[in-house]
Amino acid sequence: MAERAILEHLDLKGDIPDSSEFASTLGFDHNEIVNIIKSLHGFRLVDAVEIKKDKYVLTDEGESYTVLGSPEVQVFLAVPPEGISTDELKKKVSCYKIGSMYARTNGWLDLGKQVTRKAQHVEDHVKDLLLQLKDGKVCNCVSHIVIYIDYCICLTWTVYSLKKGPEFALERRRLVTDLTREHLQSGDWEKQEFKGYNFNAKNLTLEGGHLHPLLKARWKCILNNSVSPCSFWNFDALFQPQQHPARDSHDTFFLRDPASTKSLPEDYVERVKRVHESGGYGSKGYGYDWKREEADKNVLRTHTTAVSARMLYKLAQQPFSPRRYFSIDRVFRNEAVDRTHLAEFHQIEGVVCDRGLTLGDLMGVLHDFFMRLGMSKLRFKPTYNPYTEPSMEIYSYHEGFKKWVEVGNSGMFRPEMLLPMGLPEDVTAIAWGLSLERPTMILYGIDNIRDLFGPKVDLGLIKRNPICRLGIQ
Ligand code: PHE
Repeated sequence: MAERAILEHLDLKGDIPDSSEFASTLGFDHNEIVNIIKSLHGFRLVDAVEIKKDKYVLTDEGESYTVLGSPEVQVFLAVPPEGISTDELKKKVSCYKIGSMYARTNGWLDLGKQVTRKAQHVEDHVKDLLLQLKDGKVCNCVSHIVIYIDYCICLTWTVYSLKKGPEFALERRRLVTDLTREHLQSGDWEKQEFKGYNFNAKNLTLEGGHLHPLLKARWKCILNNSVSPCSFWNFDALFQPQQHPARDSHDTFFLRDPASTKSLPEDYVERVKRVHESGGYGSKGYGYDWKREEADKNVLRTHTTAVSARMLYKLAQQPFSPRRYFSIDRVFRNEAVDRTHLAEFHQIEGVVCDRGLTLGDLMGVLHDFFMRLGMSKLRFKPTYNPYTEPSMEIYSYHEGFKKWVEVGNSGMFRPEMLLPMGLPEDVTAIAWGLSLERPTMILYGIDNIRDLFGPKVDLGLIKRNPICRLGIQ
């Protein structure tokens, strides 16, 4: 109603010079009018200019003098025509001190031991001024009253002068806040006007945990250092041919800056090139032209096996001794996200490198690993990886989905991968790369991976989760 009144007044008269006068004339609360003005100004229906105004408000003391009279008049009236002793006068009026001072300055009283009147009749100008102030009449009495500084205080407040804004209209257009499926389907989004984001709006304070600055800094260092290997370590060293579909930008995120690596171990690169092109070590190779530019391209690593390749290469540069490696970190794939897939997730990677290891060792290690996590229902399924032979997918039973869910992939690294590194011919390596998210979903009964990790994570689910799972080894 008030909004309509403002807009109609502007339409008729062209301006509102003072919002407070406008409010009091029409009987609106000025605070309400101010809120409407701010909003109308934000949407450019009106142009509002702030005007700072002073307003005098009586203190409790000043207020009491509007009833009882000013202290000097109170003192004057307490003095009878025949005079009174100071002591007695003090008892009669509580504001004796200040009142007697002004009464003397005004020439109304003689102050000695005995107080006597010098004037017959006095006017209470101060009381009149205070009453005027109380009425909101600021007029010229203010300078006068300033000497009675305890009687009133000056408040500065803001009123607005208004003119029509560039988008002036008698009624606001309703702006759409959300683009919905219906808008898209009906095509009416083209006709709608959308509300802009207000980045200054105050948000609700979220309850819940917060990231410690050290954790954030640590994560930044990890990200800077290791999630981006070059294609050589992510693919080529793993005997993954350069035409392999996984190396396409549809599956892999390539880095723009820096787009390619500067240093690789050249003699090893040469051996990898040869094994891809023409084989060796008992292999026929792939028989294609291996390109260095392709190997140099930096990517966000698509699996933690890129780390395993680097570690095994390092191991091969020294006299051989058996090793076990373990890593757990983020990987990235350019994948469509759904209930069981994310484009950014975690892998648990393990490699055991020794002489005489078999597929039985690999199955044993994986059984043991998952048993300890509390997942005893495991199945293996033969599969193909360019870098392992044999290879096995690992499945675990998801009680919620009531089906077997793939939780990882594994195998024995191929000679085409290990031998160019320089490892001895009789050394074998069993290895696995497991999802961290999938077993977590099985263990905690989560049926949508997006609730667990990523921008749509369900904070309530995280809060409600038990601190630890009891009853597993
Ligand atoms: N790199 C494979 C994957 O991302 C997992 C794997 C690791 C398979 C080691 C075999 C050996 O799925």
